[in-house]
Amino acid sequence: MGVRHVQMSIDEQAQSSNAAGFHAQADDVFGRIATRYDLLCDLFSLGIHRLWKRRVAALIAQEPWTCLLDAASGTGDVVLRVANQQVLGREQIVITSDISPQMLAIAQKRAGPISPSLDFRVLDAHTIPSIQSNTIDLYSISLGLKICDRSKVLREAMRVLRPGGRFVSLEASNIVWPWLHRAYLTYMSLCTPLIGWVATGGDASAYRYLLKGIQEFPSAEALAIELASIGFEDVSFERLSLGIAAIHIARKPIPTYA
Ligand SMILES: C[S@@+](CC[C@H](N)C(=O)[O-])C[C@H]1O[C@@H](n2cnc3c(N)ncnc32)[C@H](O)[C@@H]1O
Repeated sequence: MGVRHVQMSIDEQAQSSNAAGFHAQADDVFGRIATRYDLLCDLFSLGIHRLWKRRVAALIAQEPWTCLLDAASGTGDVVLRVANQQVLGREQIVITSDISPQMLAIAQKRAGPISPSLDFRVLDAHTIPSIQSNTIDLYSISLGLKICDRSKVLREAMRVLRPGGRFVSLEASNIVWPWLHRAYLTYMSLCTPLIGWVATGGDASAYRYLLKGIQEFPSAEALAIELASIGFEDVSFERLSLGIAAIHIARKPIPTYA
């Protein structure tokens, strides 16, 4: 009885760290919707995701880095904006990664002439053994944390970052006024299924995960606490669109030797 209780609480913990309850191995939804993903983003967010991504790309572009790892890159929206904002130096490496080869194929196609300066890799953000520890200057993840086991992904980000390296995430968040946040969630739960159903030709997965992920994802304050509890330093966040989304920035500590 006691053992079962402990097991349940571990499962519950794992579940609560995966806001959308999404498992890429169980449902290849991004493979199925890859060609419609960009349109869905515009429809679900009324185009506002473009402002969020422009902002996160600007923050990434202003950081000093030689090796950038963008996890869950999807169709490349963020890395392509980074490449638009700064001319990539020959020494700069941009690992553009995603678990879905179909999403990455679209990113590569969209990259066009700058495609050779991006390093496209199929990677599962939960575990990236092909990336050595302490080698990445900047790790970014946009709209991917809510569909992954957050705790695992954050720990893996911590492992691959070099000491002093930056972590940058863009993710759904909470509007600061609870009544408005509730109204927003109600709006999303009414509109998302309708838009999603029409735009995907009846593929319910796409909006089910999005909705659950938005509803269950921690507040900006709570995510900041999670980052600090994993060991990140200088954790800060910036709310976007009243808090519908937030960008979190943190730093891997530099060890001090006595
Ligand atoms: C909502 S999209 C975000 C894409 C892009 N970053 C953007 O901002 O538009 C989430 C992406 O995460 C990818 N993904 C889901 N689980 C993943 C995992 N375990 N590891 C890496 N990528 C994953 C999906 O294939 C999808 O491309």
